[in-house]
Amino acid sequence: MNLSVIGTGYVGLVSGTCFAEMGNRVTCVDVINEKIENLKKGVIPIYEPGLKAMVLRNIENETLYFTTSLEESLNKCDVAFIAVGTPMGEDGSADLQYVLQVARSIGKYMVRPLIVVNKSTVPVGTADKVRSVILEELDARDQNIPFSVVSNPEFLKEGDAINDFMKPDRVVVGSDNEKATAKMRALYAPFFRSSMDRLITMDVRSAEMTKYVANSMLATKISFMNEVANICELVGADVNKVRIGIGSDHRIGYSFIYPGSGYGGSCFPKDVKALIRTASEHNYNAELIGAVESVNDRQKLVIANKVISRFGDNLEGRTFSVWGLAFKPQTDDMREAPSIYIIKELVRRGACIKAYDPKAIREAQQFYLKDVPGITYFNSKYETLADSDAMILLTEWKEFRSPDFEELKQQLKQPVIFDGRNQYNDIMLKEMGFEYYQIGKKE
Ligand code: UGA
Repeated sequence: MNLSVIGTGYVGLVSGTCFAEMGNRVTCVDVINEKIENLKKGVIPIYEPGLKAMVLRNIENETLYFTTSLEESLNKCDVAFIAVGTPMGEDGSADLQYVLQVARSIGKYMVRPLIVVNKSTVPVGTADKVRSVILEELDARDQNIPFSVVSNPEFLKEGDAINDFMKPDRVVVGSDNEKATAKMRALYAPFFRSSMDRLITMDVRSAEMTKYVANSMLATKISFMNEVANICELVGADVNKVRIGIGSDHRIGYSFIYPGSGYGGSCFPKDVKALIRTASEHNYNAELIGAVESVNDRQKLVIANKVISRFGDNLEGRTFSVWGLAFKPQTDDMREAPSIYIIKELVRRGACIKAYDPKAIREAQQFYLKDVPGITYFNSKYETLADSDAMILLTEWKEFRSPDFEELKQQLKQPVIFDGRNQYNDIMLKEMGFEYYQIGKKE
C-alpha cells in the first residue's frame, strides 16, 4: 500500500519505518525541513535501538521516503496516518492544535479516496473533529472525495519500540466503516502471521478510550506498588518479597509492579492527566486516577527525602554521584524523569551533583537540567564517584546492575548507596560494609 505518515516524532518514525519494512511504500512527512533532510541521510533525531539500521535499509530499498510536502505525499496515498504530538495543555487536557492542522491540510490536498488514521493519542471524540475539519476543507474546494477516519492508537514502549511494532501484543482499530476496517486488517496482516485474533476491531470512541485506559491502568499498578512500598517500610516488611508474593497470583501477575522513584516519560503523566480532565469535562471526579497522579508526584521525592534524612536538611558542601538520568533505560528521553525532581531538590539544598547516564547527558545539559547549577557530567559511572558522599541510582540501565562494588567503596567518601530502582542485594551490600537505602525496605 501507499502510506503517508505525518509527523516524524517517536510514533511516526517507528510506525512508518516498520510499515516500510513490510514492503509498503511509505512517505514520512514533517514540517521541519532540517529534520527531513537529516532523515533522508539516515540521521535519526532520537535514540531507539534498531531504528537507524531499519531506516537506512528501507531508504536503500526505496520503500521509505521523507518530505516536507504533505500535498505531494497525498498524490498516491491510500492511508494517511496522523502521528503528530498532542502536548499537554495548561489545564491537563490534550492540545489538539497539531492534529487538527494536519486534518485541515489533508482536506485541502487530498485528491483520491483516503483512509485517515489517528495514531496520535487523542481524547474521545477527536475522530469526529478530524472528520468535520476535513469535510469543511473539501466543501470549500467543492469536492466530494470519499474518506473515513479510523482510530488506531499506538502501544509502543520507548527502548523496545521496533519489537512492539513488529510483534504486537495487539493492534486496536476503531472504525465505523467496514471497507476501512478491511483495509486496516490487510495492512496489519503481515504482522500477525499465525492468527489475526490479536487485531481487535471496535467502534472509534472505544478505540480512542482504550489508549488512555491502558496507560492509566499501568500507571495505577505502579502508583499502587509505590504506595505499598512506603507502607512496607513503615511496618518493617520488604516490598521486594511482597512483590513476588502477590505476582505469583496469575490474576495479578509479575509485570509492572516494580516499585521505584515514580513513573515518568511522555506518556503516562500526560495520559493520566488527560483522562482525569476528560472525566471532569463530563462532571465526573475520577478520584482513583487522581490519586494515581498525586502518589506519583510524591514518589518522585522519596529518594531525595532519604538523602535528606541521612545527611540533613542543609546539603551545602555535600556532593552526590548520580547514576542514570533518563526516565527509564534504553532511551535518552528525560521527559518527566524522576531524576529532574530529585536533582533539583538536592541542589536547592546546596548539594553538588556528579552525573552520568549512558545516553541522556546531552538532553540533561541542553534542556532538562540546563539552568540547574552545580551539576558536572562525566563519561563513565566510576568517574562520578571521587569525593562523593553517596551514590544515587535513578535509572536501571544494565551497566549499573553489577558494578564493581570494591571500586565504589574505595572512591566514595563513605560507602553509601541510595537506590531508586531496587537493583542490588541488600544483604550482600551490608556484608561489604555499605549503607544501602532502597525503596520499600527500611535500611
Ligand atoms: C508506555 C506504555 O508502556 C506503552 O505501552 C505505551 O504505548 C506508551 O507509554 C505510550 O503511550 O506511547 P513508555 O512511556 O515508553 O511506554 O515506558 P514504560 O516502559 O511503560 O515505563 C513508564 C514508566 O513507568 C517508567 O518511568 C518506568 O520506570 C516506570 N515503571 C514501569 C515502574 O516504575 N515500575 C514498573 O513496574 C514499570
